Amino acid sequence: MCGIVGYYGKQDQVLDTLVSGLKRLEYRGYDSAGVAIINKDQEFTCIKEVGKIKNLENKINNQNIPEFKGIGIAHTRWATHGVPSVENAHPHSGQDQKIFLVHNGIIENYQEIKDKLTNEGVTFYSQTDTEVLAKLIEFNYTGDLKEAVLKSLEVVQGAYATVVLAKNEPDRLIAVKKGSPMVLGLNGDEYILGSDVSAIISKTREVIYLEDGEMIDINNGQYSVCNLDNQSLDKDIHNIDWDEDAASKEGYEHFLIKEILEQPKVIKDSVRGRLLPDTGDIKFGGLIDVMDKIKEVNRVIILGIGTSFYSAKLGELYFESIANIPAKAEMSPEFRYNDAVIDDKTWVIAISQSGETADTIAGIEEAKRKGALVTGIVNSVGSPIARITDAGVYNQIGPEISVASTKAFTSQATLLLMHAILLGRTRGLGYTQAEELISEIKKLPEYFEKVALLRGETKELASKYINYDNLVYVGRKYNYPIALEGALKIKEVSYVHAEGLSAGEFKHGFIALIDEKMPTIAILTKDSVYDKMVSNVEEIRARNGKIIAIASEGDERVESISEDVIYVPRSTKEEIQPLINNMALQLLAYNFAHGRGLDVDKPRNLAKSVTVE
Ligand code: F6R
Repeated sequence: MCGIVGYYGKQDQVLDTLVSGLKRLEYRGYDSAGVAIINKDQEFTCIKEVGKIKNLENKINNQNIPEFKGIGIAHTRWATHGVPSVENAHPHSGQDQKIFLVHNGIIENYQEIKDKLTNEGVTFYSQTDTEVLAKLIEFNYTGDLKEAVLKSLEVVQGAYATVVLAKNEPDRLIAVKKGSPMVLGLNGDEYILGSDVSAIISKTREVIYLEDGEMIDINNGQYSVCNLDNQSLDKDIHNIDWDEDAASKEGYEHFLIKEILEQPKVIKDSVRGRLLPDTGDIKFGGLIDVMDKIKEVNRVIILGIGTSFYSAKLGELYFESIANIPAKAEMSPEFRYNDAVIDDKTWVIAISQSGETADTIAGIEEAKRKGALVTGIVNSVGSPIARITDAGVYNQIGPEISVASTKAFTSQATLLLMHAILLGRTRGLGYTQAEELISEIKKLPEYFEKVALLRGETKELASKYINYDNLVYVGRKYNYPIALEGALKIKEVSYVHAEGLSAGEFKHGFIALIDEKMPTIAILTKDSVYDKMVSNVEEIRARNGKIIAIASEGDERVESISEDVIYVPRSTKEEIQPLINNMALQLLAYNFAHGRGLDVDKPRNLAKSVTVE
């Protein structure tokens, strides 16, 4: 949430690096954006604009900027305090524009600080908490930026990743992290700071991950790291092995469709080397060190939010049926306040694509405090969740850029199924059952190839229903989480009201809303609850409800009870089928949003990394 870029290095690289970094981070927020650079005569030029980065870029290109130095900061915003406007956009400055900063996070006690500074004669121009931080640092500035930042942070409560410049020290850039992420890229005499590595990879693969309470001081071409007590720290330099092309659209119109259609490939990457069909086992290198603990657990909690929570809901079913262990999916924003019963025999698995979600981080911390083993399933390498968990498994699906999560869900659910097999094999799961599941997991790419062929059909279906404003998704058992995820996906990208329900829950209230104006997407593939689903669908039809069915290839019966049918390939394992069904629903959501002419990759009001509570 909010993207930050900082640059120190070559004059001819400043604006390019800042703007291209922002473009890479735009999925984090796109309400408004801004840059600040220092001119040769030691004044700041700050340019801000509302809306997407391209608006800012146009403004920069149309502006006559005085000659400037090789240092600057930039920001793309997802509003927390104050509406999206030029005034509220970052960078923000101190009272006399001696310092400028960009910030990601929330300053919780901003009002108290603002009141004190107002009494001291400081004037505020925005509604943001960030401006308070900028004004405070300048208020404390007496010629040494590091000193001013350290002094200011003594009174600041909340979360921040911030990069600060001072016009009187035009060869200096300070960055601090607490709660929100920050990475430093090293490229010889150039330094690039970013909220995540995507802002940096076009320049360098060498990075330093800042931990909470750490500060980077880049001064006259040298960098040093210290804590907030100003004690020096030695930091490891990591190498990122990301393919830069993976973060480009590769000829597709949108990231969303690219990420949906690349699932046959990425799921192979996600499971590569981890399936051992000969012995019916699963091998996760990242869990080897905690396997002894895993064998001792008597309860599993799977933590996540949004799409990651819905994959957790599937995981809950997998663990109970395959590993025969009590399991519960927990929504991280609730979990942190719920006094959950957890002890050292509990295995908490935190799910997060970004690895940055604030509520999930808080849930992990709570679980660790209570003595649980906490592992992660995370996509973003080196992200905060990957680093604070005891151990974990990476999705290995490449960057997910489109704000709506698609391939991450598929990989999360597949890896959870594999976690359940891993644990199950230590708790009586037989070789045959494990091997059958493993061989169906291996077939997922084939199934996804077939679903990819439904692109045209789902487009036609979307155009038929494009003017409907209410939809309901229903499923049962393994397809109940898919109904929830299907509804979330279409809501996010199409702004259509959609609800996901268990088909069994339907007649306990929701059915009152059914009429010919509210179509039902029924996940009706062949599985152990198929007959129950058919009865539930009949109940809806009896109230003039239109049914759009997701059905197994060859199931002609479904045609007689549905208005429209999308046929998907059938897996021999009902645990695998929901993943196939979900990909068809992803295509439907994409086509619905695209058909409505919406910005499918950056839906309004959303951000991909939610780093505030
Ligand atoms: C939905 C979506 C969000 C995220 C949620 C958690 O398409 O993207 O609901 O799933 O914000 O994000 P992560 O997985 O990064 O923790």
